Amino acid sequence: MMDSKSIHRLKVGVAKVVIVGVEKTRGNEEGGNPWIWVVGSVEVASGAVVNYCGTPVGTVAASDPADEQPLNYDQVFIRDFVPSALAFLLNGEGEIVKNFLLHTLQLQSWEKTVDCYSPGQGLMPASFKVRTMPLDGSNGAYEDVLDPDFGESAIGRVAPVDSGLWWIILLRAYGKLTGDYALQERVDVQTGIRLILNLCLTNGFDMFPTLLVTDGSCMIDRRMGIHGHPLEIQALFYSSLRCSREMLIVNDGTKNLVAAINNRLSALSFHIREYYWVDMKKINEIYRYKTEEYSTDAVNKFNIYPEQIPSWLIDWIPEEGGYLIGNLQPAHMDFRFFTLGNLWSIVSSLGSPKQNEGILNLIEAKWDDLVAHMPLKICYPCFGMRGMAYNHWPWSYHNGGSWPTLLWQFTLACIKMNKPELARKAVDLAEKRLSVDQWPEYYDTHGGRFIGKQSRLRQTWTIAGF
Ligand code: GLC
Repeated sequence: MMDSKSIHRLKVGVAKVVIVGVEKTRGNEEGGNPWIWVVGSVEVASGAVVNYCGTPVGTVAASDPADEQPLNYDQVFIRDFVPSALAFLLNGEGEIVKNFLLHTLQLQSWEKTVDCYSPGQGLMPASFKVRTMPLDGSNGAYEDVLDPDFGESAIGRVAPVDSGLWWIILLRAYGKLTGDYALQERVDVQTGIRLILNLCLTNGFDMFPTLLVTDGSCMIDRRMGIHGHPLEIQALFYSSLRCSREMLIVNDGTKNLVAAINNRLSALSFHIREYYWVDMKKINEIYRYKTEEYSTDAVNKFNIYPEQIPSWLIDWIPEEGGYLIGNLQPAHMDFRFFTLGNLWSIVSSLGSPKQNEGILNLIEAKWDDLVAHMPLKICYPCFGMRGMAYNHWPWSYHNGGSWPTLLWQFTLACIKMNKPELARKAVDLAEKRLSVDQWPEYYDTHGGRFIGKQSRLRQTWTIAGF
């Protein structure tokens, strides 16, 4: 039973703060633990909110008071804020989300340069920090300043391609959940959408409708061999095109853009459904591919060598179900399973209904590999060696670590595909450990049993996702 002090703390917490979706499902339970973590998560989350000139504009990536070297985890990351934003919106608190959308919009037109080169204007930062600076010419007065990172300080100097895509998706969610469509109709907001789309839809030398990016341009923001056409970016791209089509005001100035969006949407979904999908049948086809075929009607269009089918996959692929591979380029299929890309393909309907069902079947069949003790693996399997960076030990961090923030996308996919019991199973697992372990960023080992070697604690998107 809860004592009256705990009940009071809970009520105060719920009234004040944000990330409290949990208390609804747990509200009637008796017994110690669930209440402790509800109160705990509320308190933790309240410490994560960042203010700019007195108004809330986002949440820091992690707020572990014991962390002496927060690096950039004290910044507001665009992708990390999305689950926080959804929690705020579901809790009827739209203001912080609106502020976030408008302030990041201002950062979009920031003048940015990396060694004298200026990237495109629609680029959204990976993260920003609010700095308090002395006000010019006044004694002792200070002002808040927004300081964005467009990749110029990021490890590896990588452009955050996913930021603009998440921004569009969040803008749509804001409109749908608050009913405040006036925000998306504002001239500056419409321009912001157009600038992001122009960057993504610019013609290059590409032969495919998928978006070409460098390594580390998304949630896996390090060198992990995901350069080219990674699934996660394609799913977010597809989703943001669909959202933009709903939000763009059609007039003479935008009608060509809307036509380009429509063309791209159908070409992209055809390409992914046709060429990224693998299941037992498809792998058997690839296994028997002829190579070096010349002609427009070649069966093996991308000249994939059957020897590229990794040995782990031959035993791993279940009889039922399948998944979308991580990446596809000429003569190269990355067969690794990337969780966010697959889940967001379900959520955005990039995959066909049958494929979407197949992905959840595969997750269920491969539960011990993809979930085990902590949902969910960021990718499967890991590289046997240290991945491509010093802290990428096998089954750690981006190299096959388990990231509890992925729970919200998984739950969303399960709800959409009418399999809530699967999500419940994962939530039950996470519930046992997350608050006791202080909301780690990621877990290590094949089964996700240990808190990650260099994992932050009180990671905001772990809390918000849960
Ligand atoms: C790590 C993650 C990235 C996240 C950042 C802040 O670099 O890979 O996706 O945005 O931490 O939490």
